[in-house]
Amino acid sequence: MMAGAIERKTTGKVRPHQTQNERLVFEKSSPGKRAYKLPPLDVPAVDVSALLGNAHRREAAGLPELSEIEIIRHFTRLSTWNYAIDLGMYPLGSCTMKYNPRVNEFVSRIEGLAEAHPYRPDALAQGILEVLDLLQRCLLEITGMDAITLQPAAGAHGEFTGLLLVRAWHQSNGNPRKKVLIPDSAHGTNPATAAICGYQVENLKSNADGGIDLEALARQVDEETAALMLTNPSTLGVFENEIHKIADILHAKGALLYMDGANMNALVGKVRPGDFGVDVMHLNLHKTFSTPHGGGGPGSGPVACKGFLEPFLPIPVLVRREGDRSQVSKARPGAPSSESHLAWEYDRPQSVGRVRAFYGNTGMFIRALAYILANGPDGLRQTTEDAVLNANYIRKKLEDVYELPYKTPSMHEVVFSDKRQAAKGVKTGDIAKRLIDYGFHPYTVSFPLIVHGALMIEPTESESLEELDLFVEAMRSIAREVDETPELVKTAPHSTRVSRLDEVQAARKPMLRWRAQERP
Ligand SMILES: Cc1ncc(COP(=O)(O)O)c(C=O)c1O
Repeated sequence: MMAGAIERKTTGKVRPHQTQNERLVFEKSSPGKRAYKLPPLDVPAVDVSALLGNAHRREAAGLPELSEIEIIRHFTRLSTWNYAIDLGMYPLGSCTMKYNPRVNEFVSRIEGLAEAHPYRPDALAQGILEVLDLLQRCLLEITGMDAITLQPAAGAHGEFTGLLLVRAWHQSNGNPRKKVLIPDSAHGTNPATAAICGYQVENLKSNADGGIDLEALARQVDEETAALMLTNPSTLGVFENEIHKIADILHAKGALLYMDGANMNALVGKVRPGDFGVDVMHLNLHKTFSTPHGGGGPGSGPVACKGFLEPFLPIPVLVRREGDRSQVSKARPGAPSSESHLAWEYDRPQSVGRVRAFYGNTGMFIRALAYILANGPDGLRQTTEDAVLNANYIRKKLEDVYELPYKTPSMHEVVFSDKRQAAKGVKTGDIAKRLIDYGFHPYTVSFPLIVHGALMIEPTESESLEELDLFVEAMRSIAREVDETPELVKTAPHSTRVSRLDEVQAARKPMLRWRAQERP
């Protein structure tokens, strides 16, 4: 039996979860309770039934009935059960859960930007179009590419758009080709994307350093290869040193190099994919440029490409037109009539078409641009260096207690394995659950797949030395517990409202809707 004292054994960072229980809002309901009181009607009553016809609901909708304070307390209590980057380190590898500076939020809520309606005519939308144009130019500068679309709504959506460009380009040369090569260290979205774009996926085995085996690649690339989808740095946190050679091997056979740029937070300000042979790539604005990631918030996956792919970009494309601003001056009297103006261009016969309604998740663009401008080139470079430094600090401080399967230098994240702990029957998932008792969000468990029992840790640049040390202390303490009291780790977490949940059942039979009869 775990003693209470052991359960609460923590490092300096103690953040036990709220233990208050909370019934569903429906279960708390009692008939007749209201959170409001309306004054008597002082306008003529309307016959709702006549107005709505068949759409008029005859019976009440069965919504919960509560007082205002009950509602406030219910949702406030629920909110305290969440872990958030604003509470502490969120070392979820591959997800780059960095802090989202408040200035981004402030700027994205500025009325003129937040309320710019997507149907507003171009002539009246010059301000927001300038914002989008500036972001595009910043991203092109950062990536070293020639053209860009901001439309895709997430990283995986960016991959899809990027591969559509690849396909359209091959098609325009007479043959869309059949297969896409993907390393075994890739993010799961890569093979899914290739398959959805109609390609066969061919796996590339990583070499002992976690990189691409050039000889194997040369053997696998042929005239039916459309592209290689490469994450750089990879999900092992390893930079592909020979990427320019990889690009040469592909190009020699007419294949393209697609870079999954979701890990650009390790490269920004240091190297540019456009300079090392990448033809097309996506960015995860919601990782690299701090905009909220996780928790289901909106994302953004712009796709940048080399000039030869530009004709295939999704419509509409933002273009700057010189000279005639007569439409702008007509719409905004007093606006200068001779400068250039921005407009959406739809007439692009080779375009792959639209991939999203309107122009993308504009709020994300504003946040990302605010982050880029607030940091400036030197600040962004510093951010990259800090992210890599933090990951390597953790690596150095933990490599004597956790197995490091790949000794190649780490970039923004470090991947350990549970090999030593597994000998005592404790798995990566157990260690992650125990981390919750120490007040940290778990790291990424069992990914990437090429590392058996992976512990994937990405601290990001947001963390101070003090927070990193607390994390290290927690991880070292758990390693000691594995030696001394393995059961404690295997049954964690002990400080939460509920302990181990049936994750398989939750994934296979999610209960997402309340039905009175399903409750005991
Ligand atoms: C390497 C990599 N590729 C692709 C993606 C997919 O991005 P999204 O979750 O925005 O679709 C992620 C997500 O974290 C990632 O880490």
